[in-house]
Amino acid sequence: SIVDPLLRTGYHFQPPKNWINDPNAPMYYEGWYHFFYQYNPKGAVWGHIVWAHSVSRDLINWVALKPAIEPSIPSDKYGCWSGSATIMPDGTPAIMYTGVNRPDVNYQVQNVAYPRNKSDPLLREWVKPSHNPIIVPRGGVNATQFRDPTTAWLASDGQWRLLIGSAAEGGARGVAFVYRSRDFRRWRRARRPLHSAATGMWECPDFYPAAPSAPLDLRRYDYYTVGTYDRKAERYVPDDPAGDERHLRYDYGNFYASKTFYDPAKKRRVLWGWANESDTRADDAIPRTVWLDFSGKQVIQWPIEEVEALRHQPVTLKDTVIKPGEHVEVTGTQTAQADVEVSFEVSSLAGAEPLDPALAHDAERLCGARGADVEGGVGPFGLWVLASANLEERTAVFFRVFKAAGSDKPVVLMCTDPTKSSLNPDLYLPTFAGFVDTDLSDGKISLRSLIDRSVVESFGAGGKTCILSRVYPSLAIDKNAHLYVFNNGKADVKVTLLTAWQMKKPLMNGA
Ligand code: FRU
Repeated sequence: SIVDPLLRTGYHFQPPKNWINDPNAPMYYEGWYHFFYQYNPKGAVWGHIVWAHSVSRDLINWVALKPAIEPSIPSDKYGCWSGSATIMPDGTPAIMYTGVNRPDVNYQVQNVAYPRNKSDPLLREWVKPSHNPIIVPRGGVNATQFRDPTTAWLASDGQWRLLIGSAAEGGARGVAFVYRSRDFRRWRRARRPLHSAATGMWECPDFYPAAPSAPLDLRRYDYYTVGTYDRKAERYVPDDPAGDERHLRYDYGNFYASKTFYDPAKKRRVLWGWANESDTRADDAIPRTVWLDFSGKQVIQWPIEEVEALRHQPVTLKDTVIKPGEHVEVTGTQTAQADVEVSFEVSSLAGAEPLDPALAHDAERLCGARGADVEGGVGPFGLWVLASANLEERTAVFFRVFKAAGSDKPVVLMCTDPTKSSLNPDLYLPTFAGFVDTDLSDGKISLRSLIDRSVVESFGAGGKTCILSRVYPSLAIDKNAHLYVFNNGKADVKVTLLTAWQMKKPLMNGA
C-alpha cells in the first residue's frame, strides 16, 4: 500500500483488516446495536463475501464477533450478499439476504436466517431454515440482477411486503420489485414493480416512511427521491414528477450502498453508508440521523449525537472577519482526527458571480471549473482541512455563491476540492460538489466537517448537502495536520463561531 498507516481512520467504522463493503441489516436488539457488513475474510479485495458482525451499545464503540452468515447451503454457496433485517411482531429479528448459488455466473436468490437463541442479546448464531431459498428469480427476471432485499413491512391486509433491487430492459432500467407473503416463507411477486426509472440497475434499495412522504433510495450514487406510497395500488409516486431525474443524493461524495434502520431506543432513523476507496481499505461513514426537511422535498442528515462523546480539547474562533484573499489558522488543538463546526456570515450577496447556464445543473463540473483557488465574488470561503504547515497540501471544503442567470436569486454551491490534498502524484482525486437548498437570506450558512485522517465528511447548511471524501496526504498526517479558514472571494466573510474538537479513538473492532 502507498498509504501511511497513520491515515487509517480512527472513529469511522472499520474491520481490523481486509475488504469491507455494504452495511447490512443494522438493527437494535435487547440493548445492543447490531451491524453486519459485506466482508472478505480472506483478503483486501472484494471476493468470497460473508456477513461480518459487530455489536455496540452506542453506535460508536464496536466489538467484533464471529461472522454471522457465511456460505454453507446450496443457495448461498458462492457468496452471502447484501440484505436487511426485519423485526417480527414478537420481537424476533429475521435477516433476508441474497445468496449466490452458482460458481460461474452470479445467479442470485434470496434466503432467510433466524437467531438460534433469541435470549442471546448478541445474536451470535444464525440458522438458515431448510426451506431456503425463499425467493428465486422467475418470470423474466434477470437472475444476475436480482438482489439486496429491503426490510419487510406488514401491510394493512396482514401480508408482508419487501422490495428487491433489479433491472429491466437489458439492465437499462432500475426496478424495485414488490414481494408479498403471509408467512415470511412463501413470497410472490406483485405484478407491477413499486417503481422504476431509466438509471441502470438498482442495488441496495431502501424504502421508509418519513411523514408525510417516503424516500426511496436508488442507485447510482445513492440517489433518492421523496414521494408518496399509494398503498392500494402498491405504487410509489415521486412528489416531484421530475424526481427521478433531479438526482437528489444522500451524499455528493464517496458514499454508496447506504441503508437505514429505525432505532426504537432513540426514536430516530439512522442512515449508514459505505465509503469506498481506491486503496485497499474502506470504511463506513459515521451513522447519520435522517429526517425529512420541513419543505418535504429533501432529507436532512446529521451525525448521530453519540459521536459528540468523542470530542475533547475544543478551541474556538469568534467573530473573526476573513478578508478577501486571507486565511486564518485554527490553532491549539490537533485536527487530523477532529470535529469542526463553523457558522459563517457573508456581508453582502451583491458581488455574487453570475452562474454559467451551461453549468447550472452540474455541480461537479461547476466546482471543477471554479475550484477553491479561483477567486470569486461571494466565496469561495470555507475550511482547509488536513493542511500541511506550509499549505502545500490542503483539502478545501467550501461554499461559493452565484447569481442565477436573469435573476438575483442566489445559488449556493458546496464543494470538496481535493486537488491539492496530497503531494503523492498517484492518487485519483475527484472534486465533489452539490447545490445547497438555501437562499442565504440572512447571510448565514454553517458547515460541519468530521475529519478522520483520510476521511473528510462534511455537512453543509445543517445537513442539507453532504459530501464524504477520501484524501491521502503525505505531509498533513497525524500531528502535522493543520486547519484553516479561508476566503478567496471579493466580499468579507465573518466566522461568527468556529469550534474544533479533537476526536478520541473509540473501540473499533479490536483494531
Ligand atoms: C453493492 C453490491 C450489492 C451486493 C453486494 C455484494 O455494493 O454490489 O448489490 O449485494 O454489493 O457484495
